[in-house]
Formats: sequence, C-alpha cells, structure tokens
Amino acid sequence: MKTGTILSGMRPTGRLHIGHLVGALSNWAALQDEYTCFFMIADWHALMSEYANPEVVKEATPQVAIDFIAAGLDPERSTIFVQSDIAEHLELYMAFSCVTPLGWLERCPTYKEQMRNIKDRDISNYAFLGYPVLQAADILIYKADTVPVGEDQLPHVELTREVARRFNNFYGEIFPEPQGKLTKVPRLPGLDGRKMSKSYGNFISLSDTADDVSRKVMTMFTDPQRQRRGDPGRPDVCNLYSYYEVFAPDEAAAVAQKCRGAEWGCTDCKKRLAEVLSDTLAPIQKRRAELEADPGRIERILSEGAAHAREIAQATMAQVREAIGLKMERR
Ligand code: TRP
Ligand code: SF4
Repeated sequence: MKTGTILSGMRPTGRLHIGHLVGALSNWAALQDEYTCFFMIADWHALMSEYANPEVVKEATPQVAIDFIAAGLDPERSTIFVQSDIAEHLELYMAFSCVTPLGWLERCPTYKEQMRNIKDRDISNYAFLGYPVLQAADILIYKADTVPVGEDQLPHVELTREVARRFNNFYGEIFPEPQGKLTKVPRLPGLDGRKMSKSYGNFISLSDTADDVSRKVMTMFTDPQRQRRGDPGRPDVCNLYSYYEVFAPDEAAAVAQKCRGAEWGCTDCKKRLAEVLSDTLAPIQKRRAELEADPGRIERILSEGAAHAREIAQATMAQVREAIGLKMERR
C-alpha cells in the first residue's frame, strides 16, 4: 500500500554532481516503495534561464535521465518523464496564473535572491517571475501531496499550497495542499567550502573518474589552522570532514580521532576520502555506462514515463476545465 504521491524534479542545466546525489536522488530513491512517485526533468524551468542556450538543455535532458536511473530511480516503480512532453502542465500553469496575485511572485524570496545573484544571464523575463506557478502546476497536476526538495525550494512548496487553496476556493475542491519533505542529510559543502554549485565549479560530478575524484579531493579546503603534519586538526571546522559524515559515517569517529591527535596528515585523510568517493560512485558509473551504451533504452523509458504521466495529467485537466467551465468537447 502506497501512503501518498510524490512529485519532484530537477532542471537539466548540466551533469548532476554528488551534492544532487546526497541532497536529493538517494532520498528520492528510498521513497519509491512507500509512495507513488513522479520524477521529472524540468526542461521548461531550465529554459526560463537558459533560453539563449537551448542546446545546453537539449544535451543535458537525456544525461539527467541517465543520472536519475544510475542513482537508483527505478522506471519499473516510478514514473520518470520530461516536463515538456506533457503539454497539460502549461495548460494548468495558465489556469493558475489567473488566480496568482502578482505580489506573491514578486515577494518570493527565491526570486529576489536570484535577481540579485544571477548576473551572467538575463533573467528579467516574464517567464522567470512565474517560475513557481509552473512548479505548482507540475506538482498539482498529479495531485501530489508530498514534495521532497531542498530547503531552498520550500517557498515554492508554500506558494503551491496557496495556489491550491485559492484555486479550490474559486472553483471547488480539486487539489490537495502538498507538504515539502526535507532530506535528513545536511547540505554538502563544495570543495572550497562554499555552497556546491555548477557556477562555482567546486563539485565532483557523478561521471568523474577515480583520477578526477582524487585530483579534486587533493584541492579541497581543510582546517585552515592545520599547517603542519604535527599540528592537531579540528574536524568540526574542516570542510572535508563533513564528507566523511555523509559518505562514510562509520569511519567518521576514527577519522576525527586521528585528526585531533595528529595521527595522520590531511594528505592521508584526502587519499582515504578519494577512495571512499570512488567506491560510492563506482556502481553508479557502471549503470551509467550501460545506459549510455543503449540510447534507445533511455528513450523508451522516457516515452513510457510520458505516456503514463499524460494519462493522469489529462484526467486532472478535464476536471479543471469542467470546474472553470471551459468546454472539453471542442478540444
Ligand atoms: N525548482 C526545482 C529546482 O530547481 C525544480 C522543479 C521544477 C521542481 N518543478 C518542480 C521540484 C516540482 C519539485 C517539484 O530544484
Ligand atoms: Fe580535515 Fe582530515 Fe585534515 Fe583533519 S586530517 S583537518 S579532518 S582533512
């Protein structure tokens, strides 16, 4: 028995990295038996900021699908699909646009933050303001009640609830008010201690080889006060230590002890972490290679996913049209 319905998604703007793995994908994979799951590649959302480079989105879409499956999302148990394959998302987005006050969008903290921070692309376009309205449509068209996301996305889930409530008030009870579901794993910092992000280039990607991984780990920031091999270190302020807590929790206590007692140097510590990360990535990369060798398979998975998603999306849209009074027959 499934206890609810999940929808979550990611924007295809590049290859996924280990931050996506621990922050989202592993968590999603673990929910597949408990929930009816929809996992979406949000290409329209990617185009809201990458409209000038559509080839980035085109190239990344099948790659993200491969990353999803390689990381454990299972097309036998979950519906994996591409947003733009289901035109009904845009229809519901229009219906929601009618009932969403402009102020909700202008006041959205993610919008204000992105307008401040993104300087290399022009996001002062009409669609970008409506980003969370399309996200609400993504979630509600499947009547999802649970949305596993990072903390940064909670304002969008909140807005989704408000849109659902306002729509239901006008037209009748059609939509649930979904809840966000946060991951237990703390956010993994980037190699340099800042937020892990594609634009900072401070990440290890799911497709990095063992050599890439060890080269990148060697550049990682550690306890800045630990200058010499004989100095005791402070794992609690060390960026690298948090990787042990996430990827090798059963080794973390011993690592902390060897660090505090200066029993090993940061180079030893890095060498071991590189092994841990390569071992974590190995099975994912094996599945990745199999999927890349068979492009027809990904295409089939995505078109079966789309066929299933479309059926549900169309049923919801029929209800929405009926509730608003838009004729279904002339469609
Ligand atoms: N905005 C999400 C992100 O950038 C991606 C996304 C699009 C999404 N539609 C969604 C997430 C619906 C959850 C539910 O991470
Ligand atoms: Fe960090 Fe490891 Fe160096 Fe300690 S030994 S400071 S945990 S890298």
